[in-house]
Amino acid sequence: MLFDILTIFPNFFDSALKEGLLAKAIQKGLLQVRTINLRDFTYDRHNTVDDRPYGGGEGMVMKPEPIYEAIQYLKGTSPTPHVVLLSPKGRLFQQGMAHDLSVKPRLLIICGRYEGIDERVSAFVNDEVSIGDYVLFGGEAAALVILEAVARLIPGVLGCETSSQRDSFSDGLLESPCYTRPYEFLGQKVPDVLLSGDHARIARWKREQSLLITMERRPDLLKKVELSEEDKGFLAMKGWICDT
Ligand code: 6GU
Repeated sequence: MLFDILTIFPNFFDSALKEGLLAKAIQKGLLQVRTINLRDFTYDRHNTVDDRPYGGGEGMVMKPEPIYEAIQYLKGTSPTPHVVLLSPKGRLFQQGMAHDLSVKPRLLIICGRYEGIDERVSAFVNDEVSIGDYVLFGGEAAALVILEAVARLIPGVLGCETSSQRDSFSDGLLESPCYTRPYEFLGQKVPDVLLSGDHARIARWKREQSLLITMERRPDLLKKVELSEEDKGFLAMKGWICDT
């Protein structure tokens, strides 16, 4: 996959691209990440990318021309990118969207800065995306979030192909707790079931822990997942009110 990032801060991504599994994916050739400097698509002496808002108000607005020029230039090279504009007003980025994006041969992620981007840029993008209900200085951190979420779904990026399928959110539930040695840490012991060697019992325990933690922390998720009769029985016993 080719992952293009249009930004006024191309250096923002340097260290992230050099560390861990992201670096490995790039090294293996499974992923290519390019940062494109928006200022390269300006024609004035000061490489201006922003201007004052029409109608007044606080802050500056990103001009449409440099972004449009960059999109047109990049769309002219193959394979045609799927263009995503990052904005707090966008559709919420979730695991399902990460899956959808991970099968695209090329993405172009546009990072906004300042108070906003001229609305007319929207006509030239495929989607507007936000990573959550909070406001960042700009889209760069959001671009990294999307890059990581997408990269780990590309076949071959994770050592174990099934590990991304077992994640929190992939089955709609939060992960069960996990433990390693020592068996006892500052008075806290590992649950004995995990030492039992009984794989069916362990699987059931993990499922129940997932259900429990999701019920406690993210009941909104629980409403969206398919529950077996066994799951429903367990949750009812723990006080879950199933209203469907
Ligand atoms: Cl994509 N950009 C900005 N500036 N803030 C955000 C965001 C994006 N997603 C959540 N907050």
